Amino acid sequence: MSKTTINTLHQCKQNQHKFSVVTAYDATFAHLASSAGIDVLLVGDSLGMVLQGKDSTVPVTLEHMCYHTDAVKQGNQGALIMSDLPFMSYSTPEQAIDSAAALMQAGAEMVKLEGGAWLVETVKMLSERGIPVCSHLGLTPQYVHKLGGYKVQGRDDAAAKQMLSDARAMEQAGADLILLECVPSTLAKQLTESVNIPVIGIGAGSDTDGQVLVCYDMLGMNPGHIPKFVKNYMVEGRTIAQAFEAYDQEVKAGGFPAAEHGFKA
Ligand code: KIV
Repeated sequence: MSKTTINTLHQCKQNQHKFSVVTAYDATFAHLASSAGIDVLLVGDSLGMVLQGKDSTVPVTLEHMCYHTDAVKQGNQGALIMSDLPFMSYSTPEQAIDSAAALMQAGAEMVKLEGGAWLVETVKMLSERGIPVCSHLGLTPQYVHKLGGYKVQGRDDAAAKQMLSDARAMEQAGADLILLECVPSTLAKQLTESVNIPVIGIGAGSDTDGQVLVCYDMLGMNPGHIPKFVKNYMVEGRTIAQAFEAYDQEVKAGGFPAAEHGFKA
């Protein structure tokens, strides 16, 4: 199986080929998802909610993230592994370097951090030191208490302009990817077209370069509220491997997400 690298994702953007991303937290799911052709495994701090049962990602620690990154690395069959820097592990550039180094040594090939322009110096320093970075914009779950809940972001003109400017600032600082969560589909399209680096969406419509879902959501293993951007692939008697394959194929063919999975401005 060929290895997905940051270059592969840049080529996808250039050639207008969509790529697929799911979260993974352990070796078994990493093996199944990457063998099914999924391009990127995100060791998301969503593990605080889906594995640990917490009500946000805030309690997740760097130690938790390193443990799960190492497990995913053991099962991975060629996908690119991206791991979240958890809450308060990158509040200064120096702290970010130490935290990112720990994740990279545990098996990450890229780190993801939440926030806009205030992270320019941090992204620059990480990038200059050989650490690929994904900038997470839009609904940033580590900010849930500041945002007052899990709400669609960028709906008014000022917020949309700020997000576009943050995306350009992140690209200029050296970010390799952008992840957009829960933003209007029209804004996600405009933002994707305005940067040269690949953009991954979740609840961001069908025009981003890649799509991500939390694996427990797309396998129908969510006992609580199902967000409108989720599609359950564990249907028609599929095995887990077949569900991952169906998701991968639909994303790459442009069949997922459909209009009904997106948000209006
Ligand atoms: O932690 C996570 O799983 C994420 C996704 C929701 C994109 O950041």
